[in-house]
Amino acid sequence: MNSIYRQSLTNLFEISGKMEPSLENVLEQKSLKWIFVGGKGGVGKTTTSCSLAVQLARVRDKVLLLSTDPAHNLSDAFDQKFGKDPTLVNGFTNLYAMEIDPTARVEEFVQEQGSDGPMGSIMKELSVNIPGIDEAMNFSLVMKLVKSMDYSVIVFDTAPTGHTLRFLSFPDALDKGLKKLLGFAPLMSQMSGMFGASLNQQDIFSRMKEMRDTVVEVNNQFKDPEKTTFICVCIAEFLSLYENERMIQELFSFDIDVHNVVVNQLLFPKDDSCAHCSARRAMQQKYLTQIDKLYEDFHVVKMPLLTKEVRGVEEIKNFSKMLIEPYRPNSQ
Ligand SMILES: Nc1ncnc2c1ncn2[C@@H]1O[C@H](COP(=O)(O)OP(=O)(O)OP(=O)(O)O)[C@@H](O)[C@H]1O
Ligand SMILES: [Mg+2]
Ligand SMILES: [Zn+2]
Repeated sequence: MNSIYRQSLTNLFEISGKMEPSLENVLEQKSLKWIFVGGKGGVGKTTTSCSLAVQLARVRDKVLLLSTDPAHNLSDAFDQKFGKDPTLVNGFTNLYAMEIDPTARVEEFVQEQGSDGPMGSIMKELSVNIPGIDEAMNFSLVMKLVKSMDYSVIVFDTAPTGHTLRFLSFPDALDKGLKKLLGFAPLMSQMSGMFGASLNQQDIFSRMKEMRDTVVEVNNQFKDPEKTTFICVCIAEFLSLYENERMIQELFSFDIDVHNVVVNQLLFPKDDSCAHCSARRAMQQKYLTQIDKLYEDFHVVKMPLLTKEVRGVEEIKNFSKMLIEPYRPNSQ
């Protein structure tokens, strides 16, 4: 890890003594607008993001939980169907959830414009010629939509690592792409001939500019640690830790703040009677020691592996308390 980053992080949070092993800091930081929850597949991202959103609903006005994972599981976690529009979570008055399809918005947008119209044609043309631009445009459309709603804070339940990092690189990619494109604007009127439609150059120009403005603004917000933070979820195993560290380094390279790590699915056997549990516990302890050292300037939250899955509002509520009040196996 780049020691300069670590140093500035340390200064930033004016660490005095040990970091609390709790996500309380996230609840206290009322300036936060965007909270990403990410990590390797299956470690507990959805469980953690749902739990955090439940806790945030206690202290913030209006909370949106948004899944950008194509394999949505907010519905499974809460045992309630969610779709592409924000829906109130059962039992809450200020917690909403929505699941967005990472490709649908561009399709919708093209349809809206009329797929035979000039804008639709140009979008289609662009997505063929600039790989990934459709995903990036989708991102900007989603951000525009979410920004237009009056949520105090938005929690992202993200897809496993690789996808999320690409997602976070979109603002930069799209900004560059659109900048280039705007330079081509004069050519657009000629392109209209190609699509056999009369093209309002000014209209396209302003749509592109509008899109770019959203992207620039969102990008600036994501890079502002007052507004945005990323919460890493991992388990105490080699591969997960390895991926966690790689992810943190990439987040730093995107200038995205990260100072919380949730270590999930930890075993706390009551005694040594089970060789299996004791052995796994010993392995987890080894990695926990490394985690404590590697992330000494992070809030490291340790969550127990429960005997059953975390499903439904009540179970998520119970789980969420342990994100705030550190779990003590002996008090159970
Ligand atoms: N600490 C825990 N104790 C018991 N079960 C857990 C715990 N954490 C997560 N689970 C369960 O493990 C499963 C996977 O968790 P979750 O869906 O939160 O992971 P994920 O990282 O979002 O997975 P994916 O990468 O597939 O999106 C779920 O059934 C969840 O209820
Ligand atoms: Mg998930
Ligand atoms: Zn056992």
